[in-house]
Amino acid sequence: MSQKVTPWEVKGNVDYDRLIKEFGVSKIDKKILTRIQKHSKTLHPFLRRGIFFAHRDLTFILDEFEKGNKFFLYTGRSPSGNVHIGHMIPWIFTKWLQDVFNVELYFQFPDEEKYLFKNNLSWEDSQKYLHENMLDVIAVGFDPKKTHFIIDTKHANLLYPEAVKVAKKITFSTIKAAFGLKEDSNIGQIFYTAMQAVPAFLPSVLKKKEIPCLIPHAIDQDGHFRVSRDVLPKLGHYKPASIQCRFLPGLGGMHADGKMSASEENTAIYMIDDPATVKKKINKYAFSGGQATVEEHRKKGGNPEVDVAYQWLMFFEKDDKRLEKIYQDYKSGKLLSGELKAILIEKLNVFLAEHQKKREKAKKQIDSFILKA
Ligand code: TRP
Repeated sequence: MSQKVTPWEVKGNVDYDRLIKEFGVSKIDKKILTRIQKHSKTLHPFLRRGIFFAHRDLTFILDEFEKGNKFFLYTGRSPSGNVHIGHMIPWIFTKWLQDVFNVELYFQFPDEEKYLFKNNLSWEDSQKYLHENMLDVIAVGFDPKKTHFIIDTKHANLLYPEAVKVAKKITFSTIKAAFGLKEDSNIGQIFYTAMQAVPAFLPSVLKKKEIPCLIPHAIDQDGHFRVSRDVLPKLGHYKPASIQCRFLPGLGGMHADGKMSASEENTAIYMIDDPATVKKKINKYAFSGGQATVEEHRKKGGNPEVDVAYQWLMFFEKDDKRLEKIYQDYKSGKLLSGELKAILIEKLNVFLAEHQKKREKAKKQIDSFILKA
């Protein structure tokens, strides 16, 4: 089975156990879940359901926290298009972590990244999406007093002196091996990982005190932080820890596209989609694990493991009992594919309507989120 997982490309039916081995990350096990639960009363559904499935050094973060040494959170979004429901998964979880541990969040917008890595993204569009994407991030509900947006080109004065220190410790051959870059890759791509490393220690520089860093992110970003973890101790900083999630599959299903893609409109539901669009896309494109006819479905039942509507409900239906009932009813043939899709459509449209309201309000809040330093 072929799979490819890099920060800029995810292909094939992703085998997460294989990724754990290949990347050398640790699986999130019962023991660590119990430790998290000591701080949170209940576990977030993304933890209970294995959506956040791997980590690096999470025990170190918890050890320090329990000693009174608070960490900060770091995550990010490179503007390149409209935000879709897949992008929201790590951010929803990051907000939960911010609330549970009452910690600062540094959120990076590398507005040069996708410009450097995509052929068809103009600088003007990258700036337009920077603005649009910030609204979606604010709408997640992060604490404005504890959340700081870092924009690569706007905070270049802070980032660049630190990025060169990182860059000096990384060779071209390391980058080629980590990211599959080639001789004819543009030179901005080669430097880029140094920029993504900086927010993992910038708060320590600004506060003149080393602070542990925890990075919630989708597993495709791991390459960057593998490199950062080698370099940062050489500069006198902690190795950043991370907690990693799997991808929300696209509408075409796990076998068609490993993750939802913003550039293929019919695989994604965007945060600004209206209810009619959501209904149409799901009914028309969501890969179904149901049988060809109603009679056959009643007899044999559906397959929730491959059914996109069911897979998405695992991300968006918080109630375990309700989810379990949907699973059983679908598997037994009691629930038809169209009925399952209707449940998902209702769920998503409620979620999107709430988001869109908060997104409107966010238009007045951007300034208060941008890092002042
Ligand atoms: N490279 C990420 C993207 O493509 C953006 C990003 C920057 C990021 N810093 C991060 C993601 C830290 C996760 C964690 O969108």
